Amino acid sequence: MNTMVWKVDKYVDNLENNPQVVDAANFLRKNEVVALPTETVYGLGGNAESDEAVAKIYVAKGRPGDNPLIIHIAEREQLKQFAAEVPALAETLMDAFWPGPLTIIFKRKEGVLSEKATAGLATVAVRMPDHPVALALLKSCGLPIAAPSANSSGKPSPTKAEHVLDDLNGKIAGVLDGGVTGVGVESTVVDCTEMIPVILRPGGVTKEQLEAVVGEVREDAALTDEAAQPKAPGMKYRHYAPNAPLFMVSGTAGFLQRLVEEKRSEGLRVGLLTTEENVSGYDADLVLACGRRGELETVAAALYDTLRRFNQENVDIIFSEIFPNTGVGHAIMNRLQKAAGNKLISE
Ligand code: TXA
Ligand code: MG
Repeated sequence: MNTMVWKVDKYVDNLENNPQVVDAANFLRKNEVVALPTETVYGLGGNAESDEAVAKIYVAKGRPGDNPLIIHIAEREQLKQFAAEVPALAETLMDAFWPGPLTIIFKRKEGVLSEKATAGLATVAVRMPDHPVALALLKSCGLPIAAPSANSSGKPSPTKAEHVLDDLNGKIAGVLDGGVTGVGVESTVVDCTEMIPVILRPGGVTKEQLEAVVGEVREDAALTDEAAQPKAPGMKYRHYAPNAPLFMVSGTAGFLQRLVEEKRSEGLRVGLLTTEENVSGYDADLVLACGRRGELETVAAALYDTLRRFNQENVDIIFSEIFPNTGVGHAIMNRLQKAAGNKLISE
């Protein structure tokens, strides 16, 4: 299949009628799948009402069929079509954070969405992305769009159209290239089917931000206990992994540098993930600065691109600094732990 690339300037007016956006929307209506930029990462969109379209998403990504998709909408009105109930708690969260990087789990109405999109669960995950191109595409096609991150299953999520093409060129109808995404890590997934909201996946909206709006917020036990079964099926898989084994390192710069030297003396090509503050202090085969430690948002924005760059340089092993586990640092550490398969070396 020839994968189209539609370049769109996200700052132009009247995006809904932009020829590239209309072209992509037409493919969605024909139950083809297209990648689209959101404020978090690129998504691989397909008509959520169509088994045919949703099946194409799973095939293109090589995604296990038991991992449900997030449904993307442009208008809150659309929720009524497929959510069985919209609790007051969810209304409050939508008022505060939509459009934005917050996915909310609702009880599902039966018979509207493809059962494949929700992997047969009694619930459905929904979000309204805060990206002009995504919103224009959603409005232009008028459909609820199922969209997982537009990477091959297991790889780091795409934050640029080039990342999408690296993984999915020839496997999807097209990609709307709206430039680099902003947040860089995926949306926060919060379950609102009980009285107290539960974070199933940390992401772009922090626990602290949620608490400021709704008071008590819990976290799925699986986020801290490796033995617990996660409530978001996708959280049980290893993810975001670069080709070379990645180790998180807790300790001083001197300790990290000694680890690098030990591996180089064994003849390995060593990669090191640090930040702009520390980059000049290390010596390794490939030292990459992933944003600035002083502003964790910049680390989140650069994380997946940095993980992908290690693949291009063919290193044998990667050591990474770790980050504070608060604010957006919580999502960064969650992704880093998955990329590392939880391997941590402490001084
Ligand atoms: O920022 C994002 O959320 C991006 C962009 C493209 O919107 N999308 C994304 O989708 O990250 P995906 O498929 O890569 O991750 C969706 C996560 C998975 O962990 C999945 O198991 C979980 O949401 N999920 C989906 N539906 C669910 C449900 N009904 N109950 C619990 N977890 C659900
Ligand atoms: Mg994903």
